Amino acid sequence: MTDADFLGLLPPTAAVTDDGIAIGGVPLATIAERFGTPTYVIDEQSLREQVGAFRDALARRWGAGRIHFASKAFPTTAMYRVMADEGVGVDVAGGGELHLALRAGVDPSTILLHGNAKTDEEISLALEAGVGLVVVDNFDDLERLERRASRRQPVLVRVRPDVAAPTHEAMATGHASSKFGLSIPDARRAIERISRSRHLGLEGLHVHIGSQISDLAPFARAVEALGDLGEFDTYDLGGGLAARYTYADHAPSPDEWVATLTEAARRVLPARARILLEPGRSVVARAGVTLYRVVTVKHGEPTFVAVDGGMGDNLDVSLYGQRFEAAVVTRPFGGAPVDLVGRHCESGDRLVEGARLHDPRPGDLVVVAVTGAYCVTMANNYNGARRPPVVFVRHGAATLRQRRETYDDLASRDV
Ligand SMILES: Cc1ncc(COP(=O)(O)O)c(C=O)c1O
Repeated sequence: MTDADFLGLLPPTAAVTDDGIAIGGVPLATIAERFGTPTYVIDEQSLREQVGAFRDALARRWGAGRIHFASKAFPTTAMYRVMADEGVGVDVAGGGELHLALRAGVDPSTILLHGNAKTDEEISLALEAGVGLVVVDNFDDLERLERRASRRQPVLVRVRPDVAAPTHEAMATGHASSKFGLSIPDARRAIERISRSRHLGLEGLHVHIGSQISDLAPFARAVEALGDLGEFDTYDLGGGLAARYTYADHAPSPDEWVATLTEAARRVLPARARILLEPGRSVVARAGVTLYRVVTVKHGEPTFVAVDGGMGDNLDVSLYGQRFEAAVVTRPFGGAPVDLVGRHCESGDRLVEGARLHDPRPGDLVVVAVTGAYCVTMANNYNGARRPPVVFVRHGAATLRQRRETYDDLASRDV
């Protein structure tokens, strides 16, 4: 491993200074001093550049279209505001994300609602807000929408293309036995049903085959599966592009992904159609890191380095076996493999097995890279953990965007 390797996983603004690693011009040690640990740190410049890369690639490669950030990857008002400011829409997967997006001031016409089990309440919220698109997942969804809509609501039909994606099985959504969307024959029936609807306007089709997918071929196959269903105004080709989490990982660039999708679209979809894309993970993953303090070091085979967070702030490891890389903030390079573990009462509470940490000691700051996606999303109160704050850094300034939970917060819903 070379010195450049760990930096290559951090946001592009990362640098090593006399104070150790700095991101966005702010030493991580300063962030830990001001906001405590564990803390999620988001580099706003990298985030804006990354979403801009998707936006610009689509604009370059296809006539009409829009990026909709899949907000499940990081559903906080600060994130919704950045996305709106960058001129992209958002997709929301339920009432909570919709509420946050609206509260952040996102233009409802740029919001797209998903879900395989949208409740009446969620559908009403979306219709009242005037969301731009609702993705119909199944026939109950369709009937429920039809009953509640009082004016024309544009919709897309979610198609299950029978394309298996090479990813963790819990992250694949486009195979024949997936719970999401409609098979091709059922999609045909839904299209026909919507064409007779009083209130639903069929804009087009939607497909999404899963998450953390680094092989581009299945994306193209999923687009091709839409070709036989007729010609529509809009095609939402989903998200799912992989992020690079470890030294060994490879992830295609936003432009390579957009090129694959638009080349497939050119083969089978009408040239005048609008293309929507919904990347989440690949937009935010690398912009984020999590900062921890080492609490104990237990030497042995293996040596356990335990920090003040873990599966309460990063469920990705225990849920999906996701691998990460880590470093000591003030001694980022070199070191021998240790197991970086959390503070929760579970043996599965491991952050990085075989992390190369340089002489870790209690009190050291440790940074885990590429935690920008789905970590805030799945943060929880296991063992009474208080969910960490979210700090955005930009141009040498660190700003608290979401505070740390307090112990009183843990009892705040009790009646
Ligand atoms: C319908 C839909 N669109 C977009 C996404 C975003 O996927 P990713 O974060 O992998 O880009 C997801 C997440 O799985 C999804 O379910």
